[in-house]
Amino acid sequence: TSERSLVLVKPDGFARGLTGEVLRRIEAKGYRLVALSVLTASPEMLHRHYAEHEGKPFFEALVEFMSSGPLTAAVIEGERCIEGFRSLAGATDPTLAPPGSIRGDLGRDWGEGVQKNIVHGSDSPESAAREIGIWFPQL
Ligand code: CMP
Repeated sequence: TSERSLVLVKPDGFARGLTGEVLRRIEAKGYRLVALSVLTASPEMLHRHYAEHEGKPFFEALVEFMSSGPLTAAVIEGERCIEGFRSLAGATDPTLAPPGSIRGDLGRDWGEGVQKNIVHGSDSPESAAREIGIWFPQL
């Protein structure tokens, strides 16, 4: 059945001008754009978005990075698009993400761990519903 996923082009990807390339790949794959926004996220939003990572060693640095500048948030739609976008994105660590994926083609290690990995995609229908509620409360 058709589902929705929350996609973020993180501040590193946004600053590098990769929003269009990410959206191009999403559309080329056949998913539809349902909502699209450019914004600078507040630490409060990011604490909600990353609630499951609260307390982990990388959490504060992650919130600081993610609130450091503008990003693009999108809701996409299509059959199995949650899994499908995670496949498009590739592994969390861009050094190890396979060529052909967004992170594998466009990402690398910049000496700051695996934080700057260009995109985020929801990991389950439950996460997608929760995350869409944070970034697009009007939906
Ligand atoms: P994302 O899929 O958005 O979910 C959690 C994010 O934390 C991850 O992408 C990375 O940007 C970031 N992160 C930073 N360090 C780590 C780490 N050691 N393990 C996993 N994620 C990390």
